[in-house]
Amino acid sequence: MSENNVVSRYTTAARINHWITAVSLILLALSGMALFHPSLYFLTNLFGGGQMTRAVHPWIGVVLFFSFLGLFFRFFTLNLWNRDDTVWMKNLGAVINDREEGLPELGKYNAGQKLVFWGQSILILLLFGSGLVLWDVYFEAFTSIDQKRLSAVVHALCAIGAILIWIVHVYAAIWVKGTLRAMTRGSVTRGWSWKHHRKWFRQEVGKP
Ligand code: HEM
Repeated sequence: MSENNVVSRYTTAARINHWITAVSLILLALSGMALFHPSLYFLTNLFGGGQMTRAVHPWIGVVLFFSFLGLFFRFFTLNLWNRDDTVWMKNLGAVINDREEGLPELGKYNAGQKLVFWGQSILILLLFGSGLVLWDVYFEAFTSIDQKRLSAVVHALCAIGAILIWIVHVYAAIWVKGTLRAMTRGSVTRGWSWKHHRKWFRQEVGKP
């Protein structure tokens, strides 16, 4: 496709930031599930055994936290909620059935993307905080048994939430044709932009 038909959506730095986040979340889900239930213990083989999995899991969590922090500061202003998002959410049925004509034109992100963004922001913060409380090798002396018990529950519940949101995020990225290339090549077609994010498209083509 000629370069005239595409619009730039992400810089290389933003894409590297995104993929570091994605890979660390997948590794955390696999190592975390291995530690979560004996029936999933076989997953420790991916990380060099039980002790290695326990040792490495929190460090990958640190990578995820700081890498997501990067995404947060890059994108949070674009994810602020506005009235059009409420209208969009109320008409989700029309969106899913590909009848978006009557709906407000969208900026860079739709309400679904924004909910994914804020959902992951809250859950990753809680995962990091509760994870530190459970990281006995360094912080054992600073927390009580009761705090650890509460953190274990919060940590597990937030992990389930983050994995579910991740599944929705990936499903949407594949389902809305032409979206994946935004994060692989950094650009999207003009047609995609016009159809899904018209207000953003108008701003982009208006730029010098
Ligand atoms: C294999 C896994 C993943 C795939 C295939 C994927 C795919 C994508 C794609 C295609 C976009 C561009 C959407 C657009 O510009 O309209 C995107 C944006 C984004 N992704 Fe992912 N992603 C993955 C994992 C993750 C994970 C694990 C996180 C965070 C925990 C994440 C957070 C984000 C954020 C914050 C954006 C920017 C959109 C926004 O701010 O709402 N992604 N992703």
